[in-house]
Amino acid sequence: MRSPSAVPWIALAAVQFASLAASQISDAPSVENFVRRFSGAVVVVGNYAYLDGGEVIQMEGGAIATARTVNSTLSLDLTKSWALKDAVFKSTPKDVSPSKGNAGAWANREGTAFYVWGGKSPYAINVTTPALYKFTVDGNGGGTWAIERPQNPNLFAGLLPTEAMALTTVNNTMYGMGGVASRWTTPSLGVDQVVPGMVKFNMDAREWTNITGTESPISTLVAGRAQYLPSFGPQGLIMVLGGHAPRADVPPTIGNSRLNDFVTLTFFDPVTLKTYTQTATGDLPIFPRAGFCTAGFQNKQGGHEIFVFGGENSLTKVRYQDAYVLSLPGFVWTKLPTPPFGGRAYFPCAAVGKRQVLTVGGLEFTTPGKDEAPMGLLVYDMTAMTWKDSYDATLGDYERPDAISAFYKNGSLDRVPWSSKEVQSLFVTGTGGGAGSGNGTSNPLPTENPTPDSASASAIAGGVVGTILALAVLSAVSWFILRRRRQKNKGIEFLPPEQPAIAEMAVPGNLYPNSQAKSGPTSVVVEADTFAYVEADGESRYAELPVVRMDRRSHETELDGGSAVKGEK
Ligand SMILES: *[C@@H]1O[C@H](CO)[C@@H](O)[C@H](O)[C@H]1NC(C)=O
Ligand SMILES: *[C@@H]1O[C@H](CO)[C@@H](O)[C@H](O)[C@H]1NC(C)=O
Ligand SMILES: *[C@@H]1O[C@H](CO)[C@@H](O)[C@H](O)[C@H]1NC(C)=O
Ligand SMILES: *[C@@H]1O[C@H](CO)[C@@H](O)[C@H](O)[C@H]1NC(C)=O
Ligand SMILES: *[C@@H]1O[C@H](CO)[C@@H](O)[C@H](O)[C@H]1NC(C)=O
Ligand SMILES: *[C@@H]1O[C@H](CO)[C@@H](O)[C@H](O)[C@H]1NC(C)=O
Repeated sequence: MRSPSAVPWIALAAVQFASLAASQISDAPSVENFVRRFSGAVVVVGNYAYLDGGEVIQMEGGAIATARTVNSTLSLDLTKSWALKDAVFKSTPKDVSPSKGNAGAWANREGTAFYVWGGKSPYAINVTTPALYKFTVDGNGGGTWAIERPQNPNLFAGLLPTEAMALTTVNNTMYGMGGVASRWTTPSLGVDQVVPGMVKFNMDAREWTNITGTESPISTLVAGRAQYLPSFGPQGLIMVLGGHAPRADVPPTIGNSRLNDFVTLTFFDPVTLKTYTQTATGDLPIFPRAGFCTAGFQNKQGGHEIFVFGGENSLTKVRYQDAYVLSLPGFVWTKLPTPPFGGRAYFPCAAVGKRQVLTVGGLEFTTPGKDEAPMGLLVYDMTAMTWKDSYDATLGDYERPDAISAFYKNGSLDRVPWSSKEVQSLFVTGTGGGAGSGNGTSNPLPTENPTPDSASASAIAGGVVGTILALAVLSAVSWFILRRRRQKNKGIEFLPPEQPAIAEMAVPGNLYPNSQAKSGPTSVVVEADTFAYVEADGESRYAELPVVRMDRRSHETELDGGSAVKGEK
């Protein structure tokens, strides 16, 4: 049930008035008082999932209050099963480490600590001098915060901490890609700045490396995600997904960004940094998509599945209520059952137990009121393919579900349109070989020539996106109206021809705070399109799906054609 509150909570203010009910204000409000949580991080260390940073909205004095920064590190015990509504948070003060939103957070290999770097201070209040913070766990859900001093302080001093960086870890090294810096992330930074390239942090040596220019596997990346795939390639591979790639030479906007799709996937070798691409097939996620979350699972066949949930359309700010799995080595997307309670973005998820995903907060802002997910938590069972209202500590190992195994069992792995023999050999020979066949045999290399890279757009979708996708896409966004379709066969370097007027949007989670007027308009009309691959008239192409106009004052979304609907689907 949604709260009938009339509080204009969309205009979040970081500075609070003293509340009459001050005693009950909490970083982990009760299930009754909880309203929303967003922009935090989740890291699993040992037997606990730690929630760090972000903001929380709760009932205060009987009304929905504005957002407060979360001043504690919270933990959930993964050795016990619990209903989400009964989740018990253990709280440790963030005495040394300031609370940030959209920060980078990762665990060490030993399972003794996690680190937090970067992130934004809402409304640029108390932006701190950049530091790496380390939380050393005590084994009981608590721990101690300290600043982790770099081995190479001169290089560290020149690094710009960012928000919305994509990161993963390989052994004891963190690889952090892209992100954006602003006066919310860095003291007295004049202009918003997209941070190009990749940083590495070796946790054993406490050593930072900045990899830029042609050395770096990515140029720029905002609000994408990265996943380490240990079972492929000579030393594993790092997959980079989604987000957008602004030009680095001007203050970043969506308008000057390349919008990354989920068809041509990019990955690189963590040691040589050699970068590859490969087209994916199946139920391709709609893009643009930024601020989604991912979690990775290795299966018993030597393959790997990546869970992808939500995110927002960077143009319309509409948050996606959908989830997918990318199965490797088949490079095939499978759409999952629709997640409950609305679209989510700028929120974390993490693999918990042996085969579940825990997600925290991120409900869309166009739907006012309480997040109906208990305390903002959702759990997804990767094997049963179901969304659940509890975490189950007893569930066994991850097994690739039948809906995904079907692809491998009927020999589809032999028909993957590999971009090159080299890419094919990274995925279907060596230790990862046979990952897909379902009976453990390895798959010989087919003799025909691999599909050349340059054929991407038509090859991509030639045998790839069928009418099933088109139908799925259209039904998922059935509240949209298809305004027009136009050929947009521009391959992966796709830029939308029309630049929507989004710069002035004053919405929480806006990654470019300098480009928004602080006392800006409360009502902004956004007109923008969402893109997907569809197959029609025997050819595949980008199609513009919807035109959406959003009125931020009334929370109403107006469809092209004049019919106004509530901003909830
Ligand atoms: C966290 O501390 C800040 C600064 O004192 C305060 O404004 C905010 O309300 C606190 N958050 C909560 C949830 O109490
Ligand atoms: C900002 O820092 C000051 C001084 O440390 C502190 O008193 C205040 O509570 C902080 N404000 C917020 C919103 O964190
Ligand atoms: C790495 O170096 C490049 C080039 O000097 C710079 O633009 C970028 O900001 C640096 N990375 C970080 C995270 O500061
Ligand atoms: C990770 O560590 C293992 C064991 O120490 C080592 O064999 C492997 O080469 C390392 N991988 C990378 C990418 O450094
Ligand atoms: C194999 O199975 C996948 C997944 O069920 C399906 O999409 C594909 O069409 C099948 N291919 C053949 C040749 O049967
Ligand atoms: C394994 O699968 C391959 C290809 O589907 C098939 O040719 C082979 O006979 C199977 N082997 C066993 C032991 O089932």
